[in-house]
Amino acid sequence: MVELGINIDHVATIRQARKTYEPDPVWAAAFAELGGADCITIHLREDRRHIIDRDVRMLSDSVNIKLNLEMATAPDIVDLACDTTPDQVTLVPEKREEVTTEGGLDVITHYESIKPVVSRLQDAGIRVALFLDPDPSQIEAAAKMRVQAVELHTGQYALHKGEEQMRCLAQLATAGKLIVESGMNLHAGHGLNYQNVLPVAQLDSMLELNIGHSIVARAVFVGLRQAVSEMKDLIS
Ligand code: PXP
Repeated sequence: MVELGINIDHVATIRQARKTYEPDPVWAAAFAELGGADCITIHLREDRRHIIDRDVRMLSDSVNIKLNLEMATAPDIVDLACDTTPDQVTLVPEKREEVTTEGGLDVITHYESIKPVVSRLQDAGIRVALFLDPDPSQIEAAAKMRVQAVELHTGQYALHKGEEQMRCLAQLATAGKLIVESGMNLHAGHGLNYQNVLPVAQLDSMLELNIGHSIVARAVFVGLRQAVSEMKDLIS
């Protein structure tokens, strides 16, 4: 079964537009779970532009399905993760000026700074995934770091159409095979929507998909519970 992680950051983005208390991502997590989500995913960014520390704490206490915290390696965020112990942390690169995560982590260049963070999170009992481009040398470095999973960046696949999209899909398939053969779990996400998700969901050994924008966009019109349920039906 492919697990569906719902990224609820956009619900927090609407709240932060007015710096008020609604809509509450804690409510979003409950509706996503009712719709069939297997996992709630949140990204605590360094500038706290959507998810804030209070959300991480409240969701850690209230989410009964898997909670996946996406984060960079900033020390205060690593401290919060070790304190709240989500089920899983997905380490992502972060640039302040980006609208959303633009590429995978470079674990080769930053091996020495990422490795101690991975160990600290794992020592706190948290499973660690790395968000990577489908690049074999990055995947080999991730295996050397002994992380539990790699989330493949599907952004390029989602951006392209036709033949170019098929080329990206083939790259994802090759990378996915290497991830599984190296003993890690296979996750994927970024830019996936109701039109392009199926080939990615059907990759061998795909375990978890993390999807945010397309589901929250659909939820504006049909409600979050139904939007999650339609995606869950698609990928099952
Ligand atoms: N996975 C990761 C690591 C991400 O950074 C994001 C975006 O926050 C997603 C998945 C979800 O991407 P999208 O909102 O495009 O579905």
